[in-house]
Amino acid sequence: MTVREKALELLAAGGTVEGAKLARELGVSRNAVWKVMNSLRQSGYEIEAVTNRGYRLVSPPDRLNAAEIRRWLTGPGAGRELEIHDLLDSTNNRAKALAAAGAAHGTAVIADSQSGGKGRLGRSFFSPEHAGIYLTVILRPDCAPDRAGLLTSLAAVAAARAVEKVSGADVKIKWVNDLYLNGKKICGILTEGGLGLEAGRLEYAVVGIGINVNRMEFPTELREIATSVGNETGTSPDRNRLIAEILNELDGLYGDLETGVFLEESRRRSNVIGREVTVIEGGRKYPAKAVDIDGQGRLVIETEEGRTCLNYGEVSLKL
Ligand code: BTN
Repeated sequence: MTVREKALELLAAGGTVEGAKLARELGVSRNAVWKVMNSLRQSGYEIEAVTNRGYRLVSPPDRLNAAEIRRWLTGPGAGRELEIHDLLDSTNNRAKALAAAGAAHGTAVIADSQSGGKGRLGRSFFSPEHAGIYLTVILRPDCAPDRAGLLTSLAAVAAARAVEKVSGADVKIKWVNDLYLNGKKICGILTEGGLGLEAGRLEYAVVGIGINVNRMEFPTELREIATSVGNETGTSPDRNRLIAEILNELDGLYGDLETGVFLEESRRRSNVIGREVTVIEGGRKYPAKAVDIDGQGRLVIETEEGRTCLNYGEVSLKL
């Protein structure tokens, strides 16, 4: 039996187990016990540290399950076809392969963890097991590629509503693809497209949504900027239900892709409008004031040179 397994066995007996007792029974130092507890948390176990008393197992990791997700689905669209994996390099990569092979609109690819989770601008997305949602939905919008930019805004509104519904948290959108809770990032969205043979038409889009759900420990470089729904609210949202709620919201909003009416909610939830920001565009960084989101989902900014709209790129709230 490994030290982790033995620790779990001791915690599973119930109640609060003293750190000293754990150290003694496991034959390791108190510091090593602390590390084992953190590694278990990484794996989705919710473990409470009770000051001066020890550790308590609050709940085991929740498992992703297609039947459980379907139980919460309300519509006939997104999520009708579900693929669930324990581990993928990236759900976006898998979804692109499926889309290129003809998978239906609404097909959802979900992984419990990703070994190469992708973020925008070539960044990686931290995707540990049992702790988050890594979900990509294949969409086949009948629109020009420039209209597809709105899909990210639509997905951000859908994910924000879903997180709010299961946790009660007040979720903000940091244009264009991040969700924030209490000033830190809980979710990122990466939309990728495949062009069709017919010039200027989009054959498919894959919308990848990554949410930090359960209580989790972040690597040092993310600690100041990222958090999870569990860390901020003390709740442990059911990941299966949260996935279904996102799919339900995506379904409900999808019909508005042409009109973009959901952009009103993007504005209301925005944590950048009205603020001084730093725009990061290619290799360039410059200060600006974010003033609005226009009808195409672009961020309207004011600089010394006047008003302009950002199609993509990134804004930082740090000056
Ligand atoms: C970002 O923060 O820049 C975007 C992150 C997008 C992460 C999600 S997780 C599911 C899907 N699969 C990926 O590889 N990336 C997206």
